[in-house]
Amino acid sequence: MTEIPEHLLKRSKAAKGGASGGSGGDSASDSGDATSEPGNAPVAAESATPAAAAPANVPEFPNLDPEPEPVKPEPEFVTASKSRQRIPVWALPVVAALPVWAWSFAGTMQQPEVEDPVFVESAELYAAAGCAGCHGAAGGGGSGYQLSEGEVLATFPGVIDQMVHVARGSAAIAGETYGADGRRVSGDSGAAMPAQRDALTQVELELVIFHERAVLSGEDMDQPGYEEWMEHMREAYESGEELPIDDEHFDFLLACADPAVTPGATGSGSPDPEETPCPGPHAEESEGA
Ligand code: HEC
Repeated sequence: MTEIPEHLLKRSKAAKGGASGGSGGDSASDSGDATSEPGNAPVAAESATPAAAAPANVPEFPNLDPEPEPVKPEPEFVTASKSRQRIPVWALPVVAALPVWAWSFAGTMQQPEVEDPVFVESAELYAAAGCAGCHGAAGGGGSGYQLSEGEVLATFPGVIDQMVHVARGSAAIAGETYGADGRRVSGDSGAAMPAQRDALTQVELELVIFHERAVLSGEDMDQPGYEEWMEHMREAYESGEELPIDDEHFDFLLACADPAVTPGATGSGSPDPEETPCPGPHAEESEGA
């Protein structure tokens, strides 16, 4: 039920009291509430209340339900407020388009990876560069080693060493030991891993290796530095970077690789870590990020 302003109740009672010859004694309603509601006392225009017309001989019952409420004339500020335009005309199309925007925005939030080149391009490259033909579409192996179920991670704990191996191929290091714990001897499988350095750019090399590790072998993408690596590939791919794996760049990869895993690696690291950090995830990078 709506609150009846104190002053109106009083006025109504006063009017009734006058008509019935005085009901009186109701000073309890004068509990000083008028002062506790300072903002609630619009100066209503003088108006005779309908209650004043009550017949004089009707006994007065306690006023339990003071309704019907007299119709107050609408204060001017209310009228002004009602006629005021809430949304500027120029903004109406914007407001109207909000639900559409929200809907499409929600759509993009639900499928962040569908358009992500780190997933899409890497998978396409794995097939297009022929890797799938020798290692299986899901990495289960074929003429080339199995890459799935953690196999490729066991051979190459570090991404950079896998980059060197795929770029260089196996024939260039025939008979040499490679991989963690001397796991492989190049050529032992009876077939050769074709070098990819002339076929792929640096970012393509990284992408195809990402597919083998993260997608086929389930490498932990939450590990420190991994997200930064993916972001780097995304940016390099989208900016159209085409860094060739020429001799100079290959020497750079060898400098970054681990001599315990990769024949010919120096392990000296990038000559300019600030400008050109070694490719791949870096645990220390994520600490500042
Ligand atoms: C013509 C078949 C063929 C193609 C194409 C091929 N590979 Fe290989 N790959 C091999 C063979 C065979 C080996 C093992 C060679 C050896 O005995 O040293 C190998 C080895 C590897 C290894 C080492 C795995 C380990 O655990 O030792 C990786 C990684 C690899 N390939 C990745 C790739 C990627 C990435 C591509 C695509 C860019 C690719 N391969 C394309 C045949 C192929």
